[in-house]
Amino acid sequence: MNTTVVEHKETPTDHNILDVIKNRWSPRSFTDETISEETLNRLFEATRWAPSAMNEQPWRFIVGKKDDPAHQRMIEGLMQGNQPWAKNAPVLLTTIIKKTYTKNGAPNGSAKHDMGLAIGNLSAQATHEGIGLHQMGGIDRANLAELFNLPDDYEIVTVIALGYFGNPDDLTEDLKARELAPRSRKALNEIIYYGDFK
Ligand SMILES: Cc1cc2nc3c(=O)[nH]c(=O)nc-3n(C[C@H](O)[C@H](O)[C@H](O)COP(=O)(O)O)c2cc1C
Repeated sequence: MNTTVVEHKETPTDHNILDVIKNRWSPRSFTDETISEETLNRLFEATRWAPSAMNEQPWRFIVGKKDDPAHQRMIEGLMQGNQPWAKNAPVLLTTIIKKTYTKNGAPNGSAKHDMGLAIGNLSAQATHEGIGLHQMGGIDRANLAELFNLPDDYEIVTVIALGYFGNPDDLTEDLKARELAPRSRKALNEIIYYGDFK
């Protein structure tokens, strides 16, 4: 059976939320369409306005556009399961945190938290722009750090695939099934505790 492009997946929310939160999901199929520099600038502008501890802004990003050596290096640094689909993404990002505060050299325990906030901003802007993003922790961080000659004070967090939503039919059967699988989340009463942890 032929499938059409799914930009908005069924998301069974119990309460009304913002569209950019509800409509974000993690695709694996991307079209060949490139993301313009202007659009990328808007994505990164949203990213940099995230809050961070001491306003350190510990986030750094390497951008790899398809067919660039940086894109190829990022593909090499992915776990095998991520390679077959992520290689088609027009843009790959390697996300990196600076591990210490610049002001005093102390370890920055909030750096990954702050990176998460920055990616939340990126996700919201990308969703608004009709762009899908798929974050990957299934990466070989040591290999990637070596490929990019990363200094000791920096650590790779994820690689993110970005692109316009493609047709699930372009994926293998296994990946297509995951692309079309319903989204699910824990219920609020499994994660929210009023008054005490229980
Ligand atoms: C930090 C992080 C790492 C992830 N690593 C991978 C990965 O290596 N491969 C993959 O296919 N998906 C990966 N995902 C995507 C999650 O599986 C996905 O976000 C989750 O299943 C929820 O689906 P949704 O984003 O479509 O709501 C990762 C997501 C995050 C936030």
